[in-house]
Amino acid sequence: MKVAIVGYGNMGSALASGLAKAGHTVALTGKNPAKAKEVAAKAGAQALTGAEAAQGADVIIATAPYNAQVDALKALGNLSGKVVIEISNPLKADMSGLQLGHSTSAAEEIAKQLPGVKVVKAFNTTFAQVLQAGPDFNGAKGQVFFAGDDAGAKNQVKALIESLGFEATDAGPLANSRYLEPIGMLNIWFGYMAEKGTGITPAWIRRG
Ligand SMILES: NC(=O)c1ccc[n+]([C@@H]2O[C@H](COP(=O)([O-])OP(=O)(O)OC[C@H]3O[C@@H](n4cnc5c(N)ncnc54)[C@H](OP(=O)(O)O)[C@@H]3O)[C@@H](O)[C@H]2O)c1
Repeated sequence: MKVAIVGYGNMGSALASGLAKAGHTVALTGKNPAKAKEVAAKAGAQALTGAEAAQGADVIIATAPYNAQVDALKALGNLSGKVVIEISNPLKADMSGLQLGHSTSAAEEIAKQLPGVKVVKAFNTTFAQVLQAGPDFNGAKGQVFFAGDDAGAKNQVKALIESLGFEATDAGPLANSRYLEPIGMLNIWFGYMAEKGTGITPAWIRRG
């Protein structure tokens, strides 16, 4: 697949390396072209302008902080019809909780501002360090949750997650981001406040 990644921080660089290794054609883009180029070179990706990256992409992954996601995506031009993976946890500045929830979610608020874009929530419960270390958890596959309203877009995202070796767990419609984002917050709480570290990931397991 052709994947455009907006942002080259912890998540952008981990996703770029993993997806390039999995054989996808990855373009990195962001505010600082020199930084995008430097990270892309290490990841086996190419650095492109926002418009170039978006135009050629089957899937766009938005890795800016929640409050910058819409601006970062709008900078790519008209994205109508495009599949966008939205990965943010809408944390308060002091990380004490989420800015919004219960009756909406970051993913839904972003989707409202980008009409015609097929927004799929994914990777918000997956630490960058987990992506870097890979999917194996003592013989079990780590799970990556995804939620969205467009069946075709969800299939593409499922295929991307599976290409990284993770189990892709369908978490239903985009509105279920209202539940995925609090799980992301709890994962951060376990990782940092409860000091379990970032080698953890949530999973839904069943007998049989
Ligand atoms: N870190 C994790 O383990 C983790 C796990 C799950 C989900 N998430 C979510 O993933 C997102 C990224 O987290 P991160 O840890 O990778 O953060 P990060 O290292 O701070 O990276 C954020 C990236 O977004 C870019 N950015 C900021 N504003 C932008 C704008 N207006 N236009 C374009 N790019 C912009 C930054 O570019 P500059 O550096 O040039 O400003 C940077 O490359 C967040 O929404 C977070 O909630 C993170």
